[in-house]
Amino acid sequence: MLHVRTRSVDATKQVAAALEPLLRPNDVILLSGDLGAGKTAFVQGLASALGIRERVTSPTFTLAASYEGRLRLHHLDVYRLDNLAEVLDLDLPELLEDEAVICIEWGEVVVPELPRDFLRIRIHLGHPEDFEDARVLEIEATGPSWMSRQQQLSVVWANWIISETEDL
Ligand SMILES: Nc1ncnc2c1ncn2[C@@H]1O[C@H](COP(=O)(O)OP(=O)(O)OP(=O)(O)O)[C@@H](O)[C@H]1O
Ligand SMILES: [Mg+2]
Repeated sequence: MLHVRTRSVDATKQVAAALEPLLRPNDVILLSGDLGAGKTAFVQGLASALGIRERVTSPTFTLAASYEGRLRLHHLDVYRLDNLAEVLDLDLPELLEDEAVICIEWGEVVVPELPRDFLRIRIHLGHPEDFEDARVLEIEATGPSWMSRQQQLSVVWANWIISETEDL
């Protein structure tokens, strides 16, 4: 497990952008955290590092948006879905085999439908005594594909890491 801290929305975008060189086709990134935590900001940073020029917004009302970059990006937001059947209507299996990178906001509900390899990012607001704009990103690599990149994650995020435990 890695903990990364940012002190601004731009820093969160930079953290996301630093991840981009490590991304491979069919990577899945799960984002959770309260409303306004910075999930979409993270995806925006990733998208721009992938060379996507379109403005990435929260797909809350469309459920999914796709963009073309170095790798295709599917951005899903399942906040409004209250049961798994609706999630399955998204054709998730198809998206998962599209050689794209998939970012899923509020994705915990779809975990049973995911491959065992994904990067789980939980975004927490900083402590009250901390900077108002502080966020802590709790990052967990799940499955062999992400586990094999743990060393590289520590390197690309070196500037922002506040704690690191062996089991990442
Ligand atoms: N360190 C930070 N990282 C990310 N966003 C920050 C940070 N500090 C302040 N912000 C602000 O928090 C907000 C994050 O909004 P964003 O839409 O990314 O959140 P979200 O987690 O996607 O919310 P939702 O659940 O509504 O989709 C923005 O207004 C951004 O400017
Ligand atoms: Mg959002």
